[in-house]
Parts: sequence; structure tokens; C-alpha cells
Amino acid sequence: MKIIQVTDIHMVPSGRNLLGLSPRARLEACFADINRNHGDAACCLLTGDLADRGEPAAYDELRDLLGGLELPWRLLIGNHDDRVNFTKAFPGEPLDSNGFVQQTLDLEAGRLLLLDTNEPGSGAGSYCAERAAWLEAELERAEERPVYLFMHHPPFDINIPSLDRIKLLEIGELARVLDGRRNIRHLFFGHVHRPVSGSWRGIPFSALRSTVHQVPLDFATKRKVPYSYEPPAYAVIFLEPEQTLVHFHDYLDQSPVPDGMPRSVAAT
Ligand SMILES: [Fe+2]
Repeated sequence: MKIIQVTDIHMVPSGRNLLGLSPRARLEACFADINRNHGDAACCLLTGDLADRGEPAAYDELRDLLGGLELPWRLLIGNHDDRVNFTKAFPGEPLDSNGFVQQTLDLEAGRLLLLDTNEPGSGAGSYCAERAAWLEAELERAEERPVYLFMHHPPFDINIPSLDRIKLLEIGELARVLDGRRNIRHLFFGHVHRPVSGSWRGIPFSALRSTVHQVPLDFATKRKVPYSYEPPAYAVIFLEPEQTLVHFHDYLDQSPVPDGMPRSVAAT
């Protein structure tokens, strides 16, 4: 089963740019590429920082663009989002019983759980006992089926100090719920605006670049988050019984091979 992950689209109100880039043009091109190449995907998940400042007009822009995406889509929120404005703009998106933007998506490949790590007024994330109780109940109902987690903030350091300051803090409730469960196949997150993968407490994870600005590989800067114009990407993900595959696609990168050069190479 194929799914798509798009993250950190940072929409702004119509006609505005962000750091010299157009979030609308970037997302339009992203959706066009997905429509052209991945119409067979089961769904597209947008993993937070949907709006750069959480304004209603930015969510209006997103709703408009989602009308052109030919896949079913699901949304979760990040630190740049405003939970109240989001829920007004997207009344069809499910909430948990406490009003958090958390939902379960049962697909043929397994159970996808979309978590809400937004902490109003903070760039860092949180996962409180109320949210963890929802997660625990959904994990119980999954029984032995494969589970895939989607959340905006990573719950661990990635050794980039400017981002580690604003990771998911106080992971106690999340760790308590996840520990010992052997059916959690992968953790997908956003927030870091760059590709990174590995494992955390035995759970494989991956993240990818934003559709707009990126965070450079900077192991020194501690305070403000630096940014770069590295190319935007989306992820093509295959969820299979025996493996999870994540491909990162730089959908605007043309990188033409010069005229006169061969178009393929020998396999041996
Ligand atoms: Fe972001």
C-alpha cells in the first residue's frame, strides 16, 4: 500500500510570500506532481505546520489547494498552527473527545494514528495524559495489527541544537503508552524541515523536508532556527507486511543532464 507524506507547508494568506518563497506555488506544484505520479496512493497525510501563523486566511488557502489534490487527505497540526482556527476551518477533520486534533485511519496495511503535539504559545511540543489516554485506547483496539504513528514533533533530539530545543518535551506519557508494544512499525514526523531517519526506543522513524524553507545541517547554532533554500520534497511511503519503505522526492529538482551525455548507465 502506498501513501504520501507532505509536511510543513507553512501557508500564508493569499498573495503573500514567506522568506522569499511562495508556499502556495510550492504546494500547488507538489500536489500536481502527486496527482501526476501517485494517483494510486491510498491517501496523503499533511503532518503539521499547515499555516505559518495559524491565521484563518492561511487555512482558507490550504482548503482551496486541497480541492485540487486527487487523493483522500488527512491533516494534523504543528507548533505553527492554531488549534481553534484550524478546527473552524476544517470542521470535517475528526477530533478526539477532548478536542485534540487526533484521529485514527484504518487502512488495509494497518492502523494509522495521527497525534496532536501542539502546545499553544510554544514552539516545542507536548503530549499530555489526556492525549495519551486516547492513544492508549486506540492502540488497544488495534490489537496485533500493524500501527503507524504520525506526529509533528520528534520526541527525541536529532543533534541539531536549534531544533532540539523545540522537540516534544516531557515524553513520559508517550513513552509509557508505547513501551513494550511490538506492533508499532514506524514513526513519521515533520517539524525538522530536513531528511532524517533512524530508530527511537526500537521504533524506526523518518522525517523530510518542508515544501518551503528548510533547516540546514547545522550542529552549532543554538538559539534561532537557521533556514536554507535546499529543495522541497514529499515522501512516497510503502507500507507492507514485511517492510516499510520511505522515498524522498525533490519534486522541483530538474537537474538536467547536459546534452551529449548518455541517458542511462550500465548496470555492471
Ligand atoms: Fe515547520
